[in-house]
Amino acid sequence: MPDTTTDPLDTGTAYGRKQPAYNPILTEVGAGTLMGELLRRYWHPIGLTRDASDTPRKVRVLGEDLILFRDRAGRPGLVHPHCAHRGASLYYGRVEEQGIRCCYHGWLFDVQGHCLEQPCEPEAGQRTRGRIRQPWYPVQELYGMVWTYMGPPEKKPVLPRYAALEVLDKGEFIEADDSSIGGGGPPVIPCNWLQHYENLVDPFHVVILHGSFSGTQFVKEMDVLPVVTWDTVELGVCTTSIRRLSDGKVFRRISQAALPTLRVIPSPRVGRYGRVESIGWVLPIDDHSFRIYVAGRVREHGELVRMRSRLNGKLWEELTEEEHRRLPGDYEAQVSQGKIACHSDEHLVTSDKGVAMLRRLLQKQVDLVRDGKDPAGVSFDPDAAPVVFDAGNFLEDA
Ligand code: FES
Ligand SMILES: [Fe+2]
Repeated sequence: MPDTTTDPLDTGTAYGRKQPAYNPILTEVGAGTLMGELLRRYWHPIGLTRDASDTPRKVRVLGEDLILFRDRAGRPGLVHPHCAHRGASLYYGRVEEQGIRCCYHGWLFDVQGHCLEQPCEPEAGQRTRGRIRQPWYPVQELYGMVWTYMGPPEKKPVLPRYAALEVLDKGEFIEADDSSIGGGGPPVIPCNWLQHYENLVDPFHVVILHGSFSGTQFVKEMDVLPVVTWDTVELGVCTTSIRRLSDGKVFRRISQAALPTLRVIPSPRVGRYGRVESIGWVLPIDDHSFRIYVAGRVREHGELVRMRSRLNGKLWEELTEEEHRRLPGDYEAQVSQGKIACHSDEHLVTSDKGVAMLRRLLQKQVDLVRDGKDPAGVSFDPDAAPVVFDAGNFLEDA
């Protein structure tokens, strides 16, 4: 053991610390940033199906403010908030059969931003109408969620399907949820999305944060320190955690952080052994906040919501400040890393191998897009087979 008690010079104090810095390439998501352009090559869920309605709804995605609505013919639309006429917000617009009508002078836009009516203009003046386009993004609906593609139109991939949500066991159906399962906290989490995404390849925190600091937050099986291996696969980083249980059986848990922001994490409650039952998508709202959408195979309505963690029998928002301090969970750990974690101050060690692998994988995708190529996992084949993940909780005889 090195003697750490006698440092005659008292070096290593906090005095004169270097200004900390984060890696902007992997964290910043705005238009024109490197990660922002990578993420704009994929579809992202931006709301539950019911969020697109005849009441215009403000959404913020990858640093862009947008308005989500559904015209009265049932088509969902996502448009830039400021009206192409003189900028009043379509948040105050009225949804009609054909689209959304601006409250200020009544211009009507369809879900693709075409200007259909300018009621204050004389018939002759309306000749410019065909050239006016309210900026819009394509949307689709799948798995109970509304998805958008915010990238270059000529690079629009097909909206992927996933075997975990396509192949249902008897009695199962698909349900979506936006109440932040896995985030542990409120629906909008005030820190950079990468802090959460990296957490997916960090199985050791499960034992310390969720198994020791918070008491047994999940199940006793998860409190045992696992033997972990990581593998970079085409679509992400796979984590395999092996635990030998007291009855001699071997518990093999495989999870994956998949491109672009997918959480392919089997339930930590190990309620059922078998293949992964849900997929989560981390949606970067901007550089300093994110939220999570989840779709899963369930047997009862509300099952995903009921899976939310409780500490002291309480949901995160019911805890007192003292309980938050004494029983920290994912929210406390990840948000306290900073608005954006200071990568220059980190000391990555053996148990962070998955984090290093995930950062390398992301950097590689960023480089591909910057070089004009397609990142991993985008497909332009409308008949592409559903994506299969190995993830699950498996119980095996030793
Ligand atoms: S600002 Fe929207 S119609 Fe005039
Ligand atoms: Fe966690």
